Amino acid sequence: MDAVHTIAFAVYPYVVITAFVLGHSYRYATDRYGWGARSSEILDKQGLKVGITLFHWGILLTLFGHAGGMLIPQSIYDSAGIDSRTHTQVAVSVGLVIGIAAFAGMFLLLKRRFYQNRVRAVTTVNQFVTLILLFIAISSGLYNVLLGHYDVLNSVAPWIRSIVILRPDPALMTPVPFSYKLHVVSGLAILGFSPFTRLVHIWSVPLTYLIRRFIVFRSTC
Ligand code: HEM
Repeated sequence: MDAVHTIAFAVYPYVVITAFVLGHSYRYATDRYGWGARSSEILDKQGLKVGITLFHWGILLTLFGHAGGMLIPQSIYDSAGIDSRTHTQVAVSVGLVIGIAAFAGMFLLLKRRFYQNRVRAVTTVNQFVTLILLFIAISSGLYNVLLGHYDVLNSVAPWIRSIVILRPDPALMTPVPFSYKLHVVSGLAILGFSPFTRLVHIWSVPLTYLIRRFIVFRSTC
């Protein structure tokens, strides 16, 4: 195992986790008014609709799928009667549908950023980099689902769990094909970079909106 591999799969994940935690805390403490999605809807509503909807449904379901499929050991699925073959089949078929949704949405959002003059004029380098990183992670993920067919349940999944329990085992990632490594490295790059981008809006889902009392602007009597 060479040094680059060890750095990529035993050191880099912890650099990312540190940047993620400290970065969000710092940003929250110093830039509370800049914390948000920086909506560009006012500049172009029509071009946003389809892309943003497909992208968000696709990416949110993908994140839940990754958490459920990778963090929970196969032994727990086995005890629930779901063998690794069924697990993989479900992951690949559901992953294909939501991966295509996220990819198509991302493609439309990027196209809008590049070709809608008003939107391009207000786009910062930071926003372009965020979208391009997301594009790399999503397209490599979709490529893996379509053409990769690698046994992630016995390689990438236990590697992720080894990181979580603070006993990194980079050897598990050695035989993994390049497209999976690219997916992992770009996904981690998004995590580490996210506190410094508009992605902080993920942590401000207005859930209380669903249960708050009505606001009466004008009395009916
Ligand atoms: C947790 C639930 C989420 C909510 C409620 C939410 C909401 C929003 C809203 C309101 C916008 C602004 C749309 C506009 O321009 O008007 C937005 C944009 C965006 N969101 Fe989310 N989001 C969520 C999760 C995510 C996740 C998980 C990601 C990616 C990892 C993400 C990535 C983005 C990106 C990249 C944009 C900018 C798109 C563009 O303008 O080109 N969001 N989101």
